Amino acid sequence: MASENFNQLLNVFWLRPETALWRHLDIEAMRDFKFFGRSLDFGCGDGLFSFIRAGGEFDPLFDAFQKTANLDRFYQKVDVFDAYDDSYAPLVEKRPDYQISVGFDHKPNLLKKAAGLGLYAETVVGDGNEALAFKDESFDTIFSNIVYWLNDPATAIAELCRILQPGGQICLMLPNATLPEYSFFNRLFVQTKDPAWSWLDELDRGRLSDNIKQAASDEQWREIFGSAGLTVHSHSQHLSKHIIQAWDIGFRPMFPAFLKAVEAIPADKLADVKVEWVESLRRFAVPFAATEIRDNPANAFHCYILTK
Ligand SMILES: C[S@@+](CC[C@H](N)C(=O)[O-])C[C@H]1O[C@@H](n2cnc3c(N)ncnc32)[C@H](O)[C@@H]1O
Repeated sequence: MASENFNQLLNVFWLRPETALWRHLDIEAMRDFKFFGRSLDFGCGDGLFSFIRAGGEFDPLFDAFQKTANLDRFYQKVDVFDAYDDSYAPLVEKRPDYQISVGFDHKPNLLKKAAGLGLYAETVVGDGNEALAFKDESFDTIFSNIVYWLNDPATAIAELCRILQPGGQICLMLPNATLPEYSFFNRLFVQTKDPAWSWLDELDRGRLSDNIKQAASDEQWREIFGSAGLTVHSHSQHLSKHIIQAWDIGFRPMFPAFLKAVEAIPADKLADVKVEWVESLRRFAVPFAATEIRDNPANAFHCYILTK
């Protein structure tokens, strides 16, 4: 039986079920983390992940692909979700169970999408690579799954520690040293330089060069936390090799074509088509997610809850 979170994720990310799978396992991994006091979602993006984690629900017809741009440049690694206009209307069916004080991201379009969810009391645009425009000790709880996208995770973690109250908690998702070994692009092309695999660059879409490079062992992350003044309250490892490998391909290559196909479906048929699609996904995604090997040290991601 799928959790309601997973149903929501499959519905919202129906054309990219690999994202739903990953996010479902993230939610499971961070189940012991609760926001309290003044809270920050650092790198919240369009807010859909945190909205669903907070128990929010959408109308079945809503999805994460309502506003996209530059689809013709998808294979040149452009972020096609970095788009917004006033027609973006998240069809909220159930409000989230709690609010988050601040949603922070560097992309104004994504923050505008997030602002319509009723999840964030405030959204703040800023660059996580710079000193943060928040006062010392001004948050009780912080969540971030983007620290490994930044140029220097150690500096960013020290900055998050600066704005955290003593006694506060930070939940971080960070890549394990094993992650690059599970990337087809890395294993088959970067490591071998075999031109027969060069097409995997289009599939990777910059993920390896942008963020997998920050992968590190538990020992290495703990050293960074220690230097920042943070203590590990709990640590688990999620996203098993086979799950990452399925995600590494997913429905990603077909995304622009899928979106066009969906746009061509007559409005009065779309709801039925989507119900059947999501039901088919659920049939495989739910048992597949259950094959995750829990807390295996070889899993691709760490989930830390840190205290100051
Ligand atoms: C993988 S998304 C995660 C978004 C959201 N937390 C989620 O779980 O769906 C990474 C996010 O990090 C943001 N990001 C990347 N670099 C950033 C930076 N230098 N400063 C602030 N945000 C950044 C991106 O705009 C994007 O929204």
